[in-house]
Amino acid sequence: MLTEPYKIKVVEPIKRTTRDERLKIIREAGFNLFNVPAEDIFIDLLTDSGTSAMSDAQWAGLMMGDEAYAGSKNYFHFEESVRSIFGYKNIIPTHQGRVAENLLFSVAVKPGNIVPNNIHFDTTRANVEHNQGVAMDCVIKEAYDARARLPFKGNMDTEKLRRVLSENKGKVPFVMLTITNNSGGGQPVSLENIRATRAVCKEFGLPLLFDACRFAENSWFIKEREPGQQSRSVREIAREVFSLGDGCTMSAKKDGLVNIGGFLALNDDKLAEECTNLLILVEGFPTYGGLAGRDLEAMARGLQEVLDEDYLTFRIHQVRDLGERLLEEDVPIVEPVGGHAVYLDALRFLPHIPQSQFPAQALAVALYVEAGIRSVEIGSLMFGKTENGREIYPELELVRLAVPRRVYTTTHIRYVAESVIELFRTKNEIRGMRLMHAAPVLRHFTAKMEPIGA
Ligand code: F0G
Repeated sequence: MLTEPYKIKVVEPIKRTTRDERLKIIREAGFNLFNVPAEDIFIDLLTDSGTSAMSDAQWAGLMMGDEAYAGSKNYFHFEESVRSIFGYKNIIPTHQGRVAENLLFSVAVKPGNIVPNNIHFDTTRANVEHNQGVAMDCVIKEAYDARARLPFKGNMDTEKLRRVLSENKGKVPFVMLTITNNSGGGQPVSLENIRATRAVCKEFGLPLLFDACRFAENSWFIKEREPGQQSRSVREIAREVFSLGDGCTMSAKKDGLVNIGGFLALNDDKLAEECTNLLILVEGFPTYGGLAGRDLEAMARGLQEVLDEDYLTFRIHQVRDLGERLLEEDVPIVEPVGGHAVYLDALRFLPHIPQSQFPAQALAVALYVEAGIRSVEIGSLMFGKTENGREIYPELELVRLAVPRRVYTTTHIRYVAESVIELFRTKNEIRGMRLMHAAPVLRHFTAKMEPIGA
């Protein structure tokens, strides 16, 4: 039997609320879970980003913070830690992943450029588009079929990639691969596919960059599922993955096991220099990049801890067990279960709500009202847009239950499973929603909604 490979040293109380209290809270929040105070949440599965519990060694590391403006010793430790796994030449710390994206895309993406990826995460897409580029998703088509049980459903469609590259010569600055593929269900990318993507990039003389947020989970899946990889360590696999690319953007708030931190790593000196110049303008000096010395220390340690295979095995099974319990009761989810989250398939969960009425948002709100669980909508609120007066809907309409690392116990996860199952039994009572207010970009963060017929 798999058990947590750690024990609890510090506890944080969580508050229970009543259904009536939650109804009032969600109404005041404009039916947007981003606006609900975290104190009013019982189990918070909004994100696995920045929500990890740090280890005693990381907390001890915080006390070792060297807060020198330039050349902090923690920077050098951080650099050494990153290099030992990722191997890249220039390592630029940032306070989170999207700043790494912003630096890279501001320097390398020109108006009209195309950036292919398996599937861009929302901040990545927004940063490409902010620089007037086109964020092009080239994932295999099965990624859009929530029921297709493929071991590596995050893979790049290398034929599509080749087509995009040959039709857009001179317009593509680099190719990206997101490991694991968050927007497609946290699905992994195989080593074989990374090699094949690499080969296509080489054919066109283009760099390959990783969006590496969940690299350890992706490497664990390679070890579990890819023929011939079982005898290798996750660390070895990760090293090979990164050796096939030319750099990465990283949000260490995921597989860095920290509450804040990230980096941009690049082999190309000239590109790194330009990104560093911009870093100084927007984040800070190159040896701290918007972080305190202590944060760099926590990141240096977290990046090593995340490769512990007992930890990874428990982690991935905790998420998988949640998904499999839901499947036992026929709750529709994205299959197979990905690395960091279980994704409810809202189109099948709520077939009576059309996509124009935000079924995934309706489901996320209902789960909060009924059980105090916060999830996140990844559907028409996050990715839908209006073009020439017409609404364009994304192919997937999902509710993500993202599991923070080392935070919740098996009992908490069981509570989540039973609550979702209960909601599935009463699903016909859930109504659609309408959008009352929306910002022009990343609208899901600040949108105000209203239930239809309320
Ligand atoms: N890339 C991927 C694949 C991500 O999942 C995220 C963040 C980022 C980039 C940006 O990193 O937040 O540190 O700026 N994902 C979080 C999530 C927010 O909830 O999935 P960041």
